Amino acid sequence: MAKPKKKYVCQNCGAISHRWEGQCAECGEWNTLVEEAGDTVFAAKHNLQTGGREVRFVGLDTEIQLPDRKKTGIEEFDRAVGGGLVAGSATLMGGDPGIGKSTLLLQVSAKLADAGCSVAYISGEEAADQVRLRARRLGLGKASVQLASATSVRDILTTLGKNPPDFAVIDSIQTMHSDLIEGAPGTVSQVRASAQEIIKFAKQHGTMVMLVGHVTKDGNIAGPRVLEHMVDTVMSFEGERSHQYRILRSIKNRFGGTDEIGVFAMEEMGLSEVQNPSALFLTDRHEEVTGATVFPALEGTRPVLVEIQALTVRLASGATPRRSVVGWDSSRLAMILAVLEARCGLSFSGAEVYLNIAGGYRLTDPAADLAVAAALISAHAEKPMPSDAVIFGEISLSGEIRPVSNTALRLKEASKLGFGKALVPASKGKTTDGVNVVNFGKLANLVDHMLSRD
Ligand code: TYD
Ligand code: MG
Repeated sequence: MAKPKKKYVCQNCGAISHRWEGQCAECGEWNTLVEEAGDTVFAAKHNLQTGGREVRFVGLDTEIQLPDRKKTGIEEFDRAVGGGLVAGSATLMGGDPGIGKSTLLLQVSAKLADAGCSVAYISGEEAADQVRLRARRLGLGKASVQLASATSVRDILTTLGKNPPDFAVIDSIQTMHSDLIEGAPGTVSQVRASAQEIIKFAKQHGTMVMLVGHVTKDGNIAGPRVLEHMVDTVMSFEGERSHQYRILRSIKNRFGGTDEIGVFAMEEMGLSEVQNPSALFLTDRHEEVTGATVFPALEGTRPVLVEIQALTVRLASGATPRRSVVGWDSSRLAMILAVLEARCGLSFSGAEVYLNIAGGYRLTDPAADLAVAAALISAHAEKPMPSDAVIFGEISLSGEIRPVSNTALRLKEASKLGFGKALVPASKGKTTDGVNVVNFGKLANLVDHMLSRD
């Protein structure tokens, strides 16, 4: 048998290197390589083509058994996870520290317990008393949730195995420790090994398991990123800590689609459901401000109206202008600025540009291009957009405005919230009652339209 080789595993991306390096060659992070016990390398003398058991094939058209889904009764949660949790499934809940993962899962636990499920909540981060205190604060002190503070996977699974619960929360996977593996909790191999055992338990006993995972600054689920392929569902709980709103988004779902979101507001008494997100993201609007536009974003099949704000500040010549973006992709902003300059003759090179998506919302919908462009034009020309207008469309480098998906849905939401005008890409007659639609084929047309407005 060959001697086990040393290996160094990047704690950020999981890449393996055979010698220590200061910087990970895969992801470029510094000081993330940690030595972990090597795998034993067997000589490849066994032929894998004989000696196995036969695998049974079935046709694609065989009867399907749809998984049973357990609804929690928290509608926004159920919608985001694809209609409820599946027995025996493992779900990873990622999010920044302090965003509200423990709060949400405690509320989910209490709801499921009220519905008659047996529920275990295991915290590796807080003492049971702390969790209980939080439950009291949330008004959930009476729910029959079994609480424990533990970090040893062996202890936890031994205990749960005696009476497997219907639902178990492991908060968080980075604090768990498997004694089968060397290394401190939180290292990639510990996180992976602990999760593997817990997931195996879930499958064997039909327990719905929720693993909490903190994310790193760049938005990847730290360490647990290597878990993404092991679990059935990956959820991400997002928002700005300084804002109230939280969005539960599904990133991967083996049992359903990933395009629905759940919207919550963090309040004194925990997370409350937000059934009409548009009204919420638009609350603080003032009439006719320059640089502000309203964009009907689409989250899955759900339209959400958000306000985009741009501010430009002229600089004395010579200084390097800042571009600052909150809630949107900064390289996308650079592209829009370039297209405005090259195709429409609007120069921002002597101005600082600030772009903000109101309410702590993070936009990923490509249809935001046109709304951002309009906000920039409006700020630049100091001409406000009409306060009852929404705007959307994708912009190409050539300055064309491309049609986007679900125009009708976006218009309907706008109309529902009292918007009477929509600036949209040219496309064949989709109109919604009550919305006056203006079509644009080129960004230059929009610039002309906005600059000519009194
Ligand atoms: P928490 O669920 O502990 O976050 P995570 O588990 O993702 O790290 O929630 C953290 C924040 O939420 C905390 O800073 C305070 C706030 N919070 C409220 O505003 N209201 C509440 O009812 C609770 C329980 C927490
Ligand atoms: Mg927590």
